[in-house]
Amino acid sequence: MYVRNTLIINYIEYIYDVFLYIINVNMKPYRKLFNNSFQRAIIPDSNSFYKRFYEIFVGSDPRIAELFEKTFMNLQREMLKQSMTYMMSFSATLEPSDEMKELAEMHGRGKLNIPANLYEIWLESMIKTVEEFDPKFDENIEIAWRVMMAPGVAYMQSFCDKNKNAADETT
Ligand code: HEM
Repeated sequence: MYVRNTLIINYIEYIYDVFLYIINVNMKPYRKLFNNSFQRAIIPDSNSFYKRFYEIFVGSDPRIAELFEKTFMNLQREMLKQSMTYMMSFSATLEPSDEMKELAEMHGRGKLNIPANLYEIWLESMIKTVEEFDPKFDENIEIAWRVMMAPGVAYMQSFCDKNKNAADETT
């Protein structure tokens, strides 16, 4: 079981590398800054990165903590790791893959029904995690992450219920 999981993780990391190689062709400065930051912050120890991300994200708001109360976080981290490739691919092509569409639908109205403004907390948590893990983090790297994540976040938000926001949950 352990060997199989290791093989799957190696395979996912290989796909990352191929993906990064492809989008490195003709890249623009922010893409380059993002890709280099991604390599420094996530590739060396992605488990620690995603573990810390969820600590920050879940600790940011009691509503988020409640949503993840019964979640098996080891699996959740692996799924986020994989879904980051969908986010990056969407940013590069602006064509949602089937996986990206399924992810957005799953979070959207009628399903998890995540309020649009919780995506802002998701992004801020991601930026804080990058700040901790990328030793070269600076203003431009922050912009690069925001720019690269923006299309995926906007696409996911477009599946949210327009009449629902996080404040509704407090009442
Ligand atoms: C672009 C941002 C996001 C990405 C890439 C993302 C990614 C994911 C992934 C990959 C899964 C697992 C999907 C599966 O089970 O097949 C998931 C589940 C989930 N996400 Fe997100 N997510 C995002 C934003 C959010 C936000 C803002 C919230 C709000 C709290 C949220 C709450 C959840 C919950 C509650 C689950 C289900 C957990 C469970 O199965 O117990 N996500 N997300």
